[in-house]
Amino acid sequence: MSDPASTEASMPGEPVRDPDHAQRTGRLMDAAPRHLRFWHRGQMHSVEPPAPHTTLLDFLRIERGDVAVKEACAQGDCGACAVAAACLSDDGQLRWMAINACIKPLAWIHGKAVFSARDLPPAHPVICALLARESSQCGFCTPGFVMALFAVYQEARDRPGSPVFNREQVLDAISGNLCRCTGYLPIIEAGLEMLQRPPALDFDQGLAAMRRALLAHRVEHPDAHEDLRAVLQRRAEAPEAWVVAGATDLGLRITKGHERPRSMIDISGLGALRTLQADEAWLTLGAALNLQTVFQCLAERWPSLGEYLWRFAGRPIRNSATLGGNLGTASPIGDALPVLMVLQARVQLLRWDPDAQRVLGRSLAVEDFILGYRQTALAPDELIAAVQIPTRSFNWQVAAWKVSKRFEDDISAVSLAVAWRRDQDGRVAAIRLAAGGVADRALRLRSVEDLLLGRRFDPAELRQAGEQLKAAIAPISDARASAAYRREVCGNLLLRLGAHA
Ligand SMILES: Cc1cc2nc3c(=O)[nH]c(=O)nc-3n(C[C@H](O)[C@H](O)[C@H](O)COP(=O)(O)OP(=O)(O)OC[C@H]3O[C@@H](n4cnc5c(N)ncnc54)[C@H](O)[C@@H]3O)c2cc1C
Ligand code: FES
Ligand code: FES
Repeated sequence: MSDPASTEASMPGEPVRDPDHAQRTGRLMDAAPRHLRFWHRGQMHSVEPPAPHTTLLDFLRIERGDVAVKEACAQGDCGACAVAAACLSDDGQLRWMAINACIKPLAWIHGKAVFSARDLPPAHPVICALLARESSQCGFCTPGFVMALFAVYQEARDRPGSPVFNREQVLDAISGNLCRCTGYLPIIEAGLEMLQRPPALDFDQGLAAMRRALLAHRVEHPDAHEDLRAVLQRRAEAPEAWVVAGATDLGLRITKGHERPRSMIDISGLGALRTLQADEAWLTLGAALNLQTVFQCLAERWPSLGEYLWRFAGRPIRNSATLGGNLGTASPIGDALPVLMVLQARVQLLRWDPDAQRVLGRSLAVEDFILGYRQTALAPDELIAAVQIPTRSFNWQVAAWKVSKRFEDDISAVSLAVAWRRDQDGRVAAIRLAAGGVADRALRLRSVEDLLLGRRFDPAELRQAGEQLKAAIAPISDARASAAYRREVCGNLLLRLGAHA
């Protein structure tokens, strides 16, 4: 398992910025069975360590009889099971997010608080706004919408300077929720007005008590395994354990594949993998940062990537899913992969060397990390620690496009990312192209890059490059698209570079 290229790694430092919720734990579900402690319905609870495959939905519905948490798709697609989770940031403030309980391992809730629609008082502004707009017919989807809106409501309430929502923010909040009978307009209108309604003061007081309890829990139960080194040691001892980050991929292996892992290593809150740092050479994105945070950072740096990135799933999935998970999954339609490839990103891997008693690290270009259909260069004892984007990519122009059957919350049929620099004459001085959905893995398109080098983005050149692209790819036909469609569409996407001529 040792790699000759591995060198002693400096452990990732303290986060410079960890804007999302931070729970500094990497819990080893099988190593030291401990009780799960979390806030639910007005008090801290302590429950027996669950079987690793127990989902939050099963716990809430079956153990707690909370039928407001619905099960429909059981694969993160519809939002019927949405609940809101709160946890403490490093500075002790509450952070809120909606998540899909159906695919979330229960263990994730340790040290956090969980709310379903049943836990909100009738006078809560989100409920009042939805009622006033008559936003429900059969009501099956409604608890999920309540929680999607509630999470962003609380997040806005707890932060100064966000007094209103615009339509885009509301659409983003409910982007993971489906309603088949009411229609979305009244729900959107409720979302737009909920912050203007009087707050539920009793409920807010309860939240203050909850924050105190979570703070006390943090002091009283510092996690024995919060250290990255300990997690890497455990990884080396138990290579068969599932490494779980957001569980938006692994969760489906439980609910749809009916797999039952013997043990899990939950890295979702490991502080050392949730850092976001920039120095003169690298932008370093911790592997366990959620995609909402990562995409905000990338879209700030490259606004042209914004639309592409925000089409990754819906908000609750982005609240959970991580960059490490997108790499670890190595899906040919993993949306982050083409973008990381053209930004010349590298994957930082860490492992524990038991002989030398030290942490070793190595770094691979993303295209060298992805070896084939859901295959990576990750050794059984390694963890993905971070993704590093060289700062020299900052002055490249970037564009990316995703084609899917549905515009929102859908997985790509085809994707294409391009990054380029021009010389003083406006010719392409350097270019990188990568595509998803066109082969057994996300793919660099080097022959097309060679063709476009030294050229301009004029229609004739791009058409020729588009033909070259079609010849360079080997898509398959599946439920999302036929091979012929994928080939044609991907070649045509390249023509969009004409807008950057
Ligand atoms: C409804 C829905 C919509 C989706 N839409 C999209 C989409 O639009 N685009 C897209 O690309 N994907 C999409 N996905 C797939 C999924 O969300 C992504 O692949 C996501 O990035 C996985 O991240 P995760 O943290 O949840 O991974 P997990 O499920 O926790 O893990 C996935 C794999 O990576 C490994 N892993 C995770 N972190 C590490 C680490 N640090 N070190 C070593 N191994 C690690 C795990 O062991 C596992 O093998 C969607 C999924 C769902 C359920
Ligand atoms: S039941 Fe559909 S997202 Fe969970
Ligand atoms: S109210 Fe019936 S599915 Fe939304």
